[in-house]
Amino acid sequence: MDGTKAKRHGEAENVGLSSDGKKVVIIDQTELPARKIQLELETSGEMYDAIRDLKVRGAPAIGICAACCMYCLARQIETEDMDTFMRELTAYGDYLNSSRPTAVNLSWAIQRMLKTARAHKQKGRSKVLAVLGRECRNIQEEDIAMCRAISEYGLTLIREGDGILTHCNAGPLATSCYGTALGPLMLGAERGMKFKVYADETRPLLQGARLTSYELLQAGIDVTLICDNMAATVMKKGWVQACFVGCDRVAANGDTANKIGTNGVAVLANYYGIPFYVLGPTSTIDTDCHTGDEIEIELRDDEEIKKKYYKRPMAPEGVKCYNPAFDVTDHSLITGIVTEKGILRPPYEETIRKLFKQEEIRR
Ligand code: MRU
Repeated sequence: MDGTKAKRHGEAENVGLSSDGKKVVIIDQTELPARKIQLELETSGEMYDAIRDLKVRGAPAIGICAACCMYCLARQIETEDMDTFMRELTAYGDYLNSSRPTAVNLSWAIQRMLKTARAHKQKGRSKVLAVLGRECRNIQEEDIAMCRAISEYGLTLIREGDGILTHCNAGPLATSCYGTALGPLMLGAERGMKFKVYADETRPLLQGARLTSYELLQAGIDVTLICDNMAATVMKKGWVQACFVGCDRVAANGDTANKIGTNGVAVLANYYGIPFYVLGPTSTIDTDCHTGDEIEIELRDDEEIKKKYYKRPMAPEGVKCYNPAFDVTDHSLITGIVTEKGILRPPYEETIRKLFKQEEIRR
C-alpha cells in the first residue's frame, strides 16, 4: 500500500496511499491498456471525480479507494475539536458516497472508516488519524485475503481446459489481488492450469476489452475477446462450460447487480444449460436490500455510448440514449454465489440469512 512491499501474483497496485500518506494514488483505468498512468488525488473534488469518471472502478477497488480517501481527507481536517472533526469527516463521507450509487462497497468502506473514527474520537485527533491509517491498510489486506479465498472456492467449480465466459472486469484492477470472477483463473494459471476465457467487450465502457483481456494476457491466460452480442454464439458452439461474473450489490434474496449486460449473459446461460456463477466478497451482500428491485441503478452520460473511445462519434448528434451502468440478474438464474466464506447455493434467501447469522455469532 505504501509502495514498499513486494508485489504479489495478480496484484494490480491500482489503488493505495502515497509514501507520505497524504494522497491517494491510483492507476487511471480509463487510459488502459494504451497508457499506464498514475494519478495522485489530493482534494475531495479530485477523489469524487476519479470515482465518478471510472478512473478507479470495480466494486472492491472503489471501497479500498474510498477508505484511502477518507484517511487523506481526515488528515486535512485541522481542528482538535473532535465533534467538529467528526462533522467534517461525515460531510466528506456523504460527498464521496454520492459519486456512484450502485456498488455497496463504497458506502460500506466509508461507514467503516466513520465508525472507526467515532470509536476513537475521545482519544483525540492524532490517535484517530493513526487508527484510520491502519484501518485502510486492513481493508486492503482483507480484500487480498478475500480474493484469494474466493479464487480457491471458484477453482473447485471448473476443470482444466474449460471455457469460461466473463463480463466486464472483475480482475486484479477491480480489487486488490487476483480479482473475484478472474481470481480462480489467475490462481489456476499460477498452478499451471490452462483455461480458455471468452471476455465480453462490455459496452459501453469496454472494461472487458480494455481491462479483462489486458489482465488475462499479462497473466498468460488464453483469452478471446468477443463483442457482447456474440455470447450466444460461443455458448451454442459448446465452447463455454461456465460463466463467472463479479457483483456490485447482492440483495438478501440473491438478486445481483453487476455491469449492464450481465443479466443477458445469465439468461443465455440458462437457455444453454451452462452454470452461471457470481463471485464477490460478503461485503457486497446488502442484507438491508430485500430484492434487486431496491437496488439503485446508476444512469450515465450519453457520451459514453455515442463517442467515448471512438475517433469519431458513432451515433448521430442529438439521438436519444439510455445508458444504465448496471442491471440486476434474478436469483433464479444464478447457480451459485462464490464468497470468501464458501459457495452459497439456492435458496439464497435462506443461505444468505444463515451465513450472516453465523457471522453475527462469531463476532
Ligand atoms: O462500472 P464498473 O466498471 O465499476 O463496474 C464494475 C462491475 O460491474 C464489476 O463486475 C463489479 O464491480 C465487480 S469487480 C470485482
